[in-house]
Amino acid sequence: MKTRTLNTGYEMPLVGFGTYQLTDPKADETAIITAIESGYRLIDTAQAYKNEEIVGKALSHCQVPRNDLFITTKIWFSNFPGDKCRKSLEESLRKLDLDYVDLVLLHWPYNDVYQAWRSLEKAQHDGLVRSIGVSNFMPSQLIDLICFNDVTPAVNQVETHLYCQYRELQNVMRRYGVAHQAYSPFGRNRNMDMYKEDAVTAAAQKYGKTPHQIALRFLVQSGISVLPKSSHADRIKNNADIFDFVLTDDEMKTLAALDKEDVLVGNSQDATYTENMIKRTV
Ligand SMILES: NC(=O)c1ccc[n+]([C@@H]2O[C@H](COP(=O)([O-])OP(=O)(O)OC[C@H]3O[C@@H](n4cnc5c(N)ncnc54)[C@H](OP(=O)(O)O)[C@@H]3O)[C@@H](O)[C@H]2O)c1
Repeated sequence: MKTRTLNTGYEMPLVGFGTYQLTDPKADETAIITAIESGYRLIDTAQAYKNEEIVGKALSHCQVPRNDLFITTKIWFSNFPGDKCRKSLEESLRKLDLDYVDLVLLHWPYNDVYQAWRSLEKAQHDGLVRSIGVSNFMPSQLIDLICFNDVTPAVNQVETHLYCQYRELQNVMRRYGVAHQAYSPFGRNRNMDMYKEDAVTAAAQKYGKTPHQIALRFLVQSGISVLPKSSHADRIKNNADIFDFVLTDDEMKTLAALDKEDVLVGNSQDATYTENMIKRTV
């Protein structure tokens, strides 16, 4: 699996397996094992997904050495204040049955972000986590966090797909050395028009790939790591099979031009969305 180097020096796979909504102890443990057997080395979970134990069980059934795996979890914002961040991270490690995680993210930019960030800095220093980062941080929030803390986030995980490419955020992340990771790289299939665009279908036909593979290849070729989720073995395999072709510069430009800044899944800038999220407890 191809990787990119984080600002901590660790390598992060460019394709990871998304596990949101994979909560069935049997079927979804099997899906995670299928992903690892298909070549995925990054597994993306979160406290809020309520599946860290399932991920831990799947990992225990795989023969892949721990050092070759890259495990991410995320701290929910109700666990940001006081010593809750550290305690909840220790709980996540117990559920995952791991000594350390490769990456821990602050899931949303709400509540006591500063306190939680300093707690993660300490956890990184203590060896509980190799790299620390954030998720759903928009440019001003990211710059603020970077400028008033010691450790620059290694990663910002944000919704990114053909219709939502976050150009300004991409420039900010490049400037500060923060790796861009795309969640919902298919926009959770909420707008299937994206797969009927001429630029997508033409590339799919030319390279003998599916439109979903073109969507992932575009992001990865832009240096963005992607986290596709699927419960189906054939799709899990296909979504990782995007390294045997290269889009031309013209194709990349045409695909980039499809951006509509259309947020389909997670919008930390939207007032109603934020009010609803804040009511969610885990
Ligand atoms: N940090 C955050 O706040 C945040 C938010 C959302 C997501 N995430 C992470 O990002 C991961 C991915 O995002 P997501 O789960 O929201 O959505 P997604 O990966 O964009 O889309 C998943 C949907 O696409 C379908 N799909 C997968 N592969 C396909 C293929 N090859 N052809 C056609 N359809 C396909 C899946 O259906 P089937 O399962 O039926 O195949 C599912 O309905 C999550 O699982 C999670 O790990 C993070």
